[in-house]
Amino acid sequence: RDERYNRLTKEHVEYFKSILPKDNVICSLDDSEETKKELLKYNIDWMKKYRGQSQLVLLPTSTDEVSQCLRYCNENNLAVVPQSGNSGLVGGSVPVFDEIIISTKAMNKIIDFDDVSGVLTCNAGCVLADLEAYVEERGFMVPLDMGSKKYCCIGGNVSSNAGGLRYLRYGSLHSNVLGLEVVLANGQVIDNLSKLRKDSTGYDIKQLFIGAEGTLGIITNVAISTPRKPKAVNAVFLSTDSWENVQAIYKTAKEHLQEIISAFEFFDEDAYSLVKQHMQLQVPLKEENKFYVLVETHGSNKQHDNEKLHSFLEAIKTSNVAREGYVSKDDQQTRSFWIIRESVPVACSKNGAVFKYDLSIPIAQIYDVAIYMRKYLKEANVYRPGDETSEVINVAAYGHIGDGNIHINISCKSYSEEIANLIEPEIFYWTRDHNGVISGEHGLGLMKGKYLAISKPGSMIRIMESIKNILDPNYIMNPYKYLPKKRITRLSD
Ligand code: MLT
Ligand code: ZN
Repeated sequence: RDERYNRLTKEHVEYFKSILPKDNVICSLDDSEETKKELLKYNIDWMKKYRGQSQLVLLPTSTDEVSQCLRYCNENNLAVVPQSGNSGLVGGSVPVFDEIIISTKAMNKIIDFDDVSGVLTCNAGCVLADLEAYVEERGFMVPLDMGSKKYCCIGGNVSSNAGGLRYLRYGSLHSNVLGLEVVLANGQVIDNLSKLRKDSTGYDIKQLFIGAEGTLGIITNVAISTPRKPKAVNAVFLSTDSWENVQAIYKTAKEHLQEIISAFEFFDEDAYSLVKQHMQLQVPLKEENKFYVLVETHGSNKQHDNEKLHSFLEAIKTSNVAREGYVSKDDQQTRSFWIIRESVPVACSKNGAVFKYDLSIPIAQIYDVAIYMRKYLKEANVYRPGDETSEVINVAAYGHIGDGNIHINISCKSYSEEIANLIEPEIFYWTRDHNGVISGEHGLGLMKGKYLAISKPGSMIRIMESIKNILDPNYIMNPYKYLPKKRITRLSD
């Protein structure tokens, strides 16, 4: 714990109680078992890998209340962790020590929706699935989708620059977020809640907060561009026996499906073995294989899409790159394909503990990281497939091939420092040496903050530090994560 931050006192809590509704201050300074239990939900992350010791959760209901909370924390040197859905995968939204948790969960209203431009404006604490349901009723869809949509909130999605399953077609939050309202550490409100697609008037300040993981301020409102809901959705499930063939299928999909391709996802046989074992789900294919691919299309004319799909399948057949393929008959079946893909990360966590990586690597080398890590862990004698006493149970690979983003999930019975130190930074160095970066979509958080220098040169880190010093000079926003004092680099760096 950094002792330059003050410890929480009863006087601090009294102040927060004076500005927030009574039920929106959850404090365990009174040692009540019930509040301690309630606080645990905010102190511990989804994977149960990271656990903080915060004694106070604040749930402001307006931008003004967020501003008052932050101003007070800044003046009193109290460290803060912003939180929304707390479904992150890198420990970014839980405290490390006793930081005060400021949750945006009580700010969950839709402000407005423009059905001409498709711009949705809402509070940061809106749950992604609720936003999806709201715009869907109006013929639109949110441009991002992920397995955690029932829990994650748009503020956290923006803060972590989440990618997800629709990225290939609809692009990043850097392009879809049109405006943000943000409260800085000193309580100042930055009103950049623009609804304009184009703006060439100077620095695009809001971009700094997309992916800042709460280190520069708290996002309170978001304006996001939503596309029309597609009239025709098709999905194809394929299996193949080599990585070369996965790439050939991708090239064929790009050629024949071009503008209608909305997702190109894959998982390998190791990932599938966990899905079968823990989720009791099966791929809709006669035989098992090494790789499984899910291709989805979004279009506005079913007949046109069917023709394109037909030429894609014909090309696949002629080139013989897939062993089996299955086209979904209806929306329900398309959903069932997605359930299999979305259940992969859940299945990977069922053995007790999982070390998760979301590497961005050029597609040609992307799967080599899985091959390398299996070999590396076997050589270290911690991965002994078939041996029940093996520390590492499974090394699964899956992800968003179209985006050049692979997930390596290393399942173990429990979290151990020995295994963590064996994998990290090795996997990050491998990624850098193959022209990749250590996070494609989950962010840095507590897990990867100290490895930032592996993916960013010193010159860029120094600019990041300067920005941090301007916007949060007292370093109260989400400390111990981004830009920590100690960084891991290679001796040659
Ligand atoms: C996914 O692609 O399924 C997500 O990034 C979630 C995860 O990997 O756990
Ligand atoms: Zn992902």
